[in-house]
Amino acid sequence: MCGIVGYIGQRQAVDIVTQGLQRLEYRGYDSAGIAILNGHGIERHRSVGKISSLIDSIADAPPQGQMGIGHTRWATHGAVTEDNTHPHTDSEDMVAVVHNGIVENYRALKAGLAAEGVVFQSETDTEVIAHLIARYYQRGERPLAEAVRLALGELQGSSAIVAMSQLEPGLLVGGRLGNAGAVVIGLGEGENLIASDTWALIAHTREMLYLEHGEVATVSAEDVTVCDLDGCHVIKSVTTLSVDPALAAKQGYRHFMLKEIHEQPQSLTDAIRGRVDLSGDRVILPDLCGLEPVLPHLRRLHAVACGTAWHACLMAKFMIEDLARLPVEVDYGSEFRYRNPLLEPGSVVLVITQSGETVDTLAAMETARERGMQSIALVNVVESQAARLADGVIPLNAGPEIGVASTKAFTSQVVASFLLGIYLGTQRGVLDRKRRAELLAEVGRLPGLVGSLLSNGGDYERIARQYMHCEDFLYLGRGMNYPIALEGALKLKEISYIHAEGYPAGEMKHGPIALIDESMPVVAICPNDRVRAKMLSNVEQVKARGGRVIAIATVGDQEIADKADDVIWIPAAGPYITPLLAMVPLQLLAYQIAVLRGCDVDQPRNLAKCVTVE
Ligand code: AGP
Repeated sequence: MCGIVGYIGQRQAVDIVTQGLQRLEYRGYDSAGIAILNGHGIERHRSVGKISSLIDSIADAPPQGQMGIGHTRWATHGAVTEDNTHPHTDSEDMVAVVHNGIVENYRALKAGLAAEGVVFQSETDTEVIAHLIARYYQRGERPLAEAVRLALGELQGSSAIVAMSQLEPGLLVGGRLGNAGAVVIGLGEGENLIASDTWALIAHTREMLYLEHGEVATVSAEDVTVCDLDGCHVIKSVTTLSVDPALAAKQGYRHFMLKEIHEQPQSLTDAIRGRVDLSGDRVILPDLCGLEPVLPHLRRLHAVACGTAWHACLMAKFMIEDLARLPVEVDYGSEFRYRNPLLEPGSVVLVITQSGETVDTLAAMETARERGMQSIALVNVVESQAARLADGVIPLNAGPEIGVASTKAFTSQVVASFLLGIYLGTQRGVLDRKRRAELLAEVGRLPGLVGSLLSNGGDYERIARQYMHCEDFLYLGRGMNYPIALEGALKLKEISYIHAEGYPAGEMKHGPIALIDESMPVVAICPNDRVRAKMLSNVEQVKARGGRVIAIATVGDQEIADKADDVIWIPAAGPYITPLLAMVPLQLLAYQIAVLRGCDVDQPRNLAKCVTVE
């Protein structure tokens, strides 16, 4: 997903903008550029590849000026070339624009502008915005903010933009349409900043202002005014962030992903903290109080998410149906919004999202809202759009997750779902006090057990070396270990670029067994649970066909160890937390293989931390 940074104030803009872009690298990108107002006009520098290439290109003669914008591009329209790299300008370099999102009607707009004689320099939809603003701006005959409002009024789809003009050196204009990535304004002393997320701003300020759909902000060094697309003034509240920048630094770990895997004892503790009452037998979710009248009478939950968070929805289904006896449907956000879902009265949408800005997940919330349904968001970034849209919020409290591959957010999503299951089971009168106390005691052991797993180290590097050159992996699990198999496969494929599939182990004989040979390792999740015997026979079926098995097994299970080629031990634990104990080794195995393969673990190719385009 693209990253946007803008600065206006007393300091030189170039370093603030480029450093802000570096803080957004985790979002994923393929090129970067800046535009600085240097007293003579708009000075642009753009380069394909890493931001470091851009910084190197201006090192000898950095552009001078106190206002500028920058962008990291995750290509949607047009190849990865310097011409397609933002910022984009109009034909006279009067206006410069950076953009996040997709202009769905850009072809028609481009044709109209071309018919008026506009000559395009790029293949992007963003350049259309620059020309549209310039057309309305008419070299300053209109205020830039008004030209931006009028241009945004012609766009279809979701867009977040920042524009500047050499004719208005004292201001930046930010605008937002739909659910494209956030537009956050950081309020400083004698300076203000605009960015796609707070992570690019917290080095300068904790005071944040968030633009909603259809809002345009005029930002000078001293002042910020916001209006809607009709030009009517909008009163905005300011949020003071509590994030400690040190929290998200690597703190000695080689990669953010490894740090975040090792943060799980703490993040799991924080997912539970404050949600179990003193008696130890009741879950407290104060952020759901707005929904309390409907929760006891719920008839169905629609759990909607993308990627890793969708795997957490599958876990939520298992847990909530078992604990609360409440039907749960699971959907991908990208499917839910287009399949005309059957949303009956008494249903609520549960969205699970780390960033709270995933456009397909946000669209599912919009679909629910349009049908008059309420929504609950399990979300890590509490200042996000999903948190603001939802009727009830369950913060993950996992802290900043910078690695593109989600780890601690996933395990916290599952724990939050487990607590929600207990909460709903209590509301529906299907969980008595004794059972609740047992369940909460079980989940209370999880952080310590994960900590012991992590501190015991493990054979990850040795195992990774054996299998790092394989081209395909199959992950197998049953019951709640099936979503864990899916998540383990996703971790491997997204950071090591090895093809990997997760499958319900019982399905192996219905197809995947045809794939088994010595070249495709099978990761079998077979802890000491009620389907262990079935998993053992799956392992035997694989071995009988010459396959190789990496087993995740409960410590001491020699029978599994004897049959598997390699085994990774996990501690004995209750049925609800064992799948999460199995998740940690799969995160570490994927990490080790990716490192040995020399992959960019924190910013895997083609991926973004938060996907704000369809
Ligand atoms: C997971 O490792 C990926 N980064 C990706 O699948 C991610 O889970 C998905 O894009 C959803 O993101 P969200 O939780 O921020 O909505």
